[in-house]
Amino acid sequence: MSKADQDFGITLRAPGGPEALEWGPLDIASPGAGEVLIGHRAIGVNYIDTYFRTGLYAWPQTPMILGSEAAGVIAAIGAEVKDLKVGDRVAYCGPPGAYRLRRVMNAERVVKLPDSVDFVTAASVMLKGMTAQTLVDTCFKVMPGHTVLVHAASGGVGLLLGQWLKALGAQAIGTVGSPEKANVARSNGYAHAIEYRNENFVERVAEITGGKGCDVVYDSVGKDTWRGSLKCLKRRGTFVTFGQSSGVIADFKISDLAAGGSLTAIRPTLFDYIATREDLKRRSADLFSRMAAGTVKAHVGQRFALKDAADAHRALESRGTTGSTILVPPEGA
Ligand SMILES: NC(=O)c1ccc[n+]([C@@H]2O[C@H](COP(=O)([O-])OP(=O)(O)OC[C@H]3O[C@@H](n4cnc5c(N)ncnc54)[C@H](OP(=O)(O)O)[C@@H]3O)[C@@H](O)[C@H]2O)c1
Repeated sequence: MSKADQDFGITLRAPGGPEALEWGPLDIASPGAGEVLIGHRAIGVNYIDTYFRTGLYAWPQTPMILGSEAAGVIAAIGAEVKDLKVGDRVAYCGPPGAYRLRRVMNAERVVKLPDSVDFVTAASVMLKGMTAQTLVDTCFKVMPGHTVLVHAASGGVGLLLGQWLKALGAQAIGTVGSPEKANVARSNGYAHAIEYRNENFVERVAEITGGKGCDVVYDSVGKDTWRGSLKCLKRRGTFVTFGQSSGVIADFKISDLAAGGSLTAIRPTLFDYIATREDLKRRSADLFSRMAAGTVKAHVGQRFALKDAADAHRALESRGTTGSTILVPPEGA
């Protein structure tokens, strides 16, 4: 087999722990009409990858290849692809399948990278940065003077959100799992960092806001935080629940919103906000322009070789990471 025909990646045969992630050879596909083949240079790890790995989220196919975010170079194009050519530097976030050296993608889901954005940076912000953009722009429109609570503030999405909120003129309060993480959060836009493993975050938010509460809470932790999150809101505040790193919210009742003061709750999924090419271009352009202006910076906290994806999952699930986690394919692959 020639080098051009070889591919390698990480597959899952059945849901399981990190040890279920297996490195090995894969078939390589040619791009069909409207598709491009991308040679990956950097692949982003996201918490959603763990939801698919464990089977919490249904698999589109078996065996399963994880990974919803990557950057690289176009190696081949199919018929009817406009605006992209072999050699273009690109990035995407999309359906699972990125934990491999090369991948065929729908060209409509791919964006060209500005020269100023390197592959590692792009792979660390495509999904997480467009999530932050959607949360503050669309799920709840953050305005100057708003007070905002973000859980897991020193995580991948959390650090991008903190910078974004500061740039919008909001007061950002973050919860974090350690003193080190508190320092990182404060350096990335958060006016306050609450160590919620040993502080009562509801009481601390009440102190910080003088009892007024927050306009919005962005909660990606789920089971352990959602009740407290509702208590941190002002009357008619907005609860944005967008993830469940501590476990699924099981016992939420619609009447909890009335009891909390006529609250609004929303459970967004990024892919519904970038479903059209226009939305994808608008949100990615907003992200890249803020990065070019320096108001939002990528924070890559840790890198792993692609074949060591299991170690990346262990680190993420043990709360041992800050910022984004990147998988790097072997040189010259
Ligand atoms: N809805 C969407 O479209 C969308 C898109 C992107 C991401 N998300 C969600 O956003 C969240 C952040 O994603 P990310 O990839 O940037 O991950 P991350 O925030 O870097 O990692 C998850 C963090 O959650 C915190 N956490 C709290 N309790 C935990 C527990 N029991 N086990 C593990 N972690 C726990 C940890 O921070 P501390 O130690 O500081 O608590 C951990 O570092 C995830 O929930 C993800 O599903 C949703």
